Amino acid sequence: MSEKILIVGSGAREHAIAVALARSVQQPALLCFGSARNPGIAALCVAYISGRTTDAEAVARFAVEQQATLAIVGPEDPLAAGVADALWSAGVPTVGPTQSLARLESSKAFTRNLLAKYGIEGNPAFQRFTSLEGVTEWLAQFPRNHVIKDDGLAGGKGVKVFGDHLHSLEESLAYCKELADAGRPFVLEEKLEGEEFSLLSFSDGTTLRHMPSVQDHKRAYEGDQGPNTGGMGTYTDSNGSLPFLKPEDIAAAQSINERVIAAVRQECGEPYRGVLYGGFMATRNGVRLIEYNARFGDPECLNLLTLLESDFVAVCRAMVEEKLSSAEVHFASKASVCKYLVPQGYPESPRKGDAVVVPSFLPAGAALYLGAVDEREGTLVATGSRTVGIVGTGASLAEAEQLCQQLCASIEGPFFFRSDIGTPAALNKRIQHMKELRG
Ligand code: AMP
Ligand code: GLY
Repeated sequence: MSEKILIVGSGAREHAIAVALARSVQQPALLCFGSARNPGIAALCVAYISGRTTDAEAVARFAVEQQATLAIVGPEDPLAAGVADALWSAGVPTVGPTQSLARLESSKAFTRNLLAKYGIEGNPAFQRFTSLEGVTEWLAQFPRNHVIKDDGLAGGKGVKVFGDHLHSLEESLAYCKELADAGRPFVLEEKLEGEEFSLLSFSDGTTLRHMPSVQDHKRAYEGDQGPNTGGMGTYTDSNGSLPFLKPEDIAAAQSINERVIAAVRQECGEPYRGVLYGGFMATRNGVRLIEYNARFGDPECLNLLTLLESDFVAVCRAMVEEKLSSAEVHFASKASVCKYLVPQGYPESPRKGDAVVVPSFLPAGAALYLGAVDEREGTLVATGSRTVGIVGTGASLAEAEQLCQQLCASIEGPFFFRSDIGTPAALNKRIQHMKELRG
């Protein structure tokens, strides 16, 4: 049977998913239900529809009309809205957890409580609140080292860290009040100190196959300055680890992902079939969990799927059929660096409508994925969010970084990107930081 695969979502992450599926020897037909028309994805699809990706019925209807044999959901909002549930009900096996399982991402308290209930290490001190009752007492325990999180999905904008976004107890209380007044439950957490890294795993509900670990750069400007973004760039190393991590850090993160998949299966009574993204902090006392995402990261996906050497269609099939233990899942033993080109003014007041000219030929080892880009009369035009994701791969991080950097610099237009991501100076800073913490 030849596969007809529906991709839900239309950013650079979904473009990377489309490219990885399209290079399969199975030559699947691709379909896309996106929130916008991404010309990079559209060029690979036999049918494309733009609409509300959280409209589960509409997504399922399109899948059935098009006789999709498989689906993969990119972003978190459709998962939280039950798009995977609707697709499974319509008979379309789906990579991406059901609404109940996706609470790993859509509720911070669900995840913290799950770890606590099943005795899985990795939680900082935490408590969930729905009103201001008890908040002052809790904050008194961690007056200068706390984090306040909107319990629900807030597009990365619901988290405020003391010392970063909050500078006094008054400001912290004011943010708690804002959330309580808006009727939004919130979680108070002890602030962890260390270096962040991500460990993503393919899951069929029982078996996990881990991917190389990745580090993201959330701040808009060089030197980790400026406002938070969805992620300005990411890198992986050729050995699957990161230069500042020890083998036991990776082992701890893998073990937490494995135990969480087992726990969430027991808790929800169904298998988690999709990508599990663990966001971790390496601290002086070992690895702690920052958060879970119920999907590929963007841009982490751009690195990881560029490096995936196995047949991605077969990996997706194995996830939905609960056969990951016998699937071939292999990544190139290469380093990768990804940088996003974004419009000037991003993220607060991005310019829109500027033409972006991408090279028609890419050097060996490089990849380019279109993000928030429209096509108008044959010209690519930026629509305001992360515009183009560029990946360089190589035998070493230095090689991968240089390739990525050169390509980013060759793209014309009023865009910017972070030159520092993946450079020896930036890596050394992180290695030094961990050395100091570990003593
Ligand atoms: P989240 O949406 O939970 O990933 O939080 C966004 C960012 O806030 C993370 O990437 C971290 O940089 C920071 N953060 C979240 N929780 C903590 C914590 N407990 N300690 C320190 N930083 C945190
Ligand atoms: N790059 C972080 C995320 O996708 O959530």
